[in-house]
Amino acid sequence: MRVIDENTITDAALEQMSSTANPRLKQIMASLVRHLHAFTREVDLTPEEWLEGIRFLTAVGQKCTAHRQEFILLSDTLGESALINALHDKRTTENATKSSLLGPFYRQDAPMMKLGDSIISKCEGTEVVFYGRVVDAAGRGIPNALVQVWEPDETGNYDLQKHDPSVMDLRGCFHADAEGRYYFRGVCPTGYMIPMDGPVGDMIRAQKRHGFRPAHIHFVIGAPGYRELVTALYVEGDAHIDSDTVFGVSDSLIVSLNKKDPASPLPNMPSINFDFRLAAAKDKMSGRVGADPSQITSKARTGA
Ligand code: BEZ
Ligand code: FE
Repeated sequence: MRVIDENTITDAALEQMSSTANPRLKQIMASLVRHLHAFTREVDLTPEEWLEGIRFLTAVGQKCTAHRQEFILLSDTLGESALINALHDKRTTENATKSSLLGPFYRQDAPMMKLGDSIISKCEGTEVVFYGRVVDAAGRGIPNALVQVWEPDETGNYDLQKHDPSVMDLRGCFHADAEGRYYFRGVCPTGYMIPMDGPVGDMIRAQKRHGFRPAHIHFVIGAPGYRELVTALYVEGDAHIDSDTVFGVSDSLIVSLNKKDPASPLPNMPSINFDFRLAAAKDKMSGRVGADPSQITSKARTGA
């Protein structure tokens, strides 16, 4: 006898999916179905509410372009990206710098620059030197590590959010020197509101959340033989440091702005100093919870 009711449907769906060839896909999909059905039973979801959910997810997809990734924003604001980062950090036994959100504004083709260069092309904020070392678990410098950085301007906007999103600003790539030292000039980080003009913004407003991220600058740091580090530095004293809308702040990533710093390579400028610690890794292992939005849309189109 076939009886599909609110309890038997879960086993029926799992049974049909049990022929999945890929074992990891089978595990993930089975768990997803179990949790999705349990959630639906728990809140006793109505057809109208289900349709509202479908409408919301459709709008999230429709908001995505080569310059905008609304699904990553949704993952970030639900705490899912921070959870994936936390699980990723636990997979190494070495004491590495904590991960933080890649966010939706990373671009993989930022210009290569020389140590000491400025990533600012047009900006009216306070210029700051960021400096420090990229080291291994034993504190030894990692020569030639690749340091990618990006930050918003003094109004809290990234280049991708401006009139011509193909024009790059406030981002760059640097190779550390033979002792793992890096330094570059940028703008003093500013806090900003996440993009609120899409369905994720509607959700944030419905939840009466403020939508702000505390002042920060992003880093992706890699070197052969080490696990790629995706992280950000957060500036002490920001009003939203304890209530980041996307849960990116960890105490160990909070830095202070030093007005005068004799240890800085540019001692007459305000500075932010931080050493990044990478964990050793045999395989190239990335911790990117996200990607350049243009790469995501082109992959989705070609299925590559
Ligand atoms: C960011 O820091 O760039 C960011 C992260 C998550 C959501 C929005 C922005
Ligand atoms: Fe950011």
